[in-house]
Amino acid sequence: VPGAMAAERALAVATCTAPVNIAVIKYWGKRDTDLILPINSSLSVTLHQDQLKTTTTAAASRDFTEDRLWLNGAEADVGHPRVQACLREVRRLARKRRGGSEDAATLGLLSYKVHIASENNFPTAAGLASSAAGYACLVSALARLYGVEDELSEVARRGSGSACRSMWGGFVQWQRGERPDGTDSLAHQVAPETHWPELRVLVLVVSEQKKPVASTAGMQTSVETSPLLKHRAEVVVPERLAQMMRHIRERDFEGFGQLAMRDSNQFHATCLDTFPPIFYLNDLSRHIIALAHRYNAHHGHIKVAYTFDAGPNAVIFALADTVDEFVEVVRRSFPPATNGDQFIRGLPVSSAALPQELVAAVVTEPVPGAIQYILHTKPGPGPQLVDDPSQHLLGADGLPRRRA
Ligand code: DP6
Repeated sequence: VPGAMAAERALAVATCTAPVNIAVIKYWGKRDTDLILPINSSLSVTLHQDQLKTTTTAAASRDFTEDRLWLNGAEADVGHPRVQACLREVRRLARKRRGGSEDAATLGLLSYKVHIASENNFPTAAGLASSAAGYACLVSALARLYGVEDELSEVARRGSGSACRSMWGGFVQWQRGERPDGTDSLAHQVAPETHWPELRVLVLVVSEQKKPVASTAGMQTSVETSPLLKHRAEVVVPERLAQMMRHIRERDFEGFGQLAMRDSNQFHATCLDTFPPIFYLNDLSRHIIALAHRYNAHHGHIKVAYTFDAGPNAVIFALADTVDEFVEVVRRSFPPATNGDQFIRGLPVSSAALPQELVAAVVTEPVPGAIQYILHTKPGPGPQLVDDPSQHLLGADGLPRRRA
């Protein structure tokens, strides 16, 4: 059909994937809520996209009559201020780069409306932080669409603070920056994902997910009311960042793990110090924390480290040679309710026989059914371009493809 051919030719399209990241030195608090400038620097580990990723397709066509956005197949509000900030900033970079008239194709593209479709390869209901991967992916796909090759963490930051760290793989620092305009508030890679091949990550997805206080609102109340947060940002974090960089450089798991746990605990202490207080940790979180400490005490050194964000899922760091045993400890402590075969997902885990003394010392108070499943993953790379056109989430008509 000649008409369809013409429409197809007029469609410019790009697809990217982007990862989730988990902070080991937490970001909590903004000094500028509009530009999303943090009160302290932070440091995270980018998780592997084989287990957790967002895929986003961005398309532009002169046939589109309005900007449109679909999230996991359902149409969403493209007018959301943070989506608009990302769109505006990528387009600004595209204009700047083209320097006016020399590339008519891009200038044409910039005048067209866009369609954007985004999907996660993990259930959104699992409460796994998806906004970081989502905005990193949005910015990556738009940049591809418009041929922008600039530093993009500054743009992703405008979507969600933690999203700027998902623009890189491996170990990533988001530098708070000093300038009021945010041009030095950027993420950069501290070490690539290949730096620490033995490092593993277990996401313990909890069964009861209450809707927590959104981090954007919660952290602003903390900035306004918590003296502990002020002390943390000014004194504690600068020291910890330097220490954490050293532990990562030296692949010192004990140093890394202890500091990750302490920093998670301090973040949650600032939440309790917020007025009115915010509770992200619950009884189950405290069970998992106590379990990790009993396990480490039994072994006489730090073999697993937990960290919790603004929700109930626990993220555990361990070295590869600890995973089988610790997963069995978790399975015994939180016996799966129904789908026992689906309890462990992601990278393979072998069964382990637990020594009786270990069980006696560590598995003290089993809570059946409390953990839905364990996702086994590891550090991974930053955003990727998807070359295969069959993977685009938008069809030749610019609308979401029917999902398999
Ligand atoms: C607890 O990046 O979600 O996960 O910038 O308002 O979008 P906004 O907040 P967001 O906050 C993340 C907070 C955290 C800690 C972290 O990831 O560093």
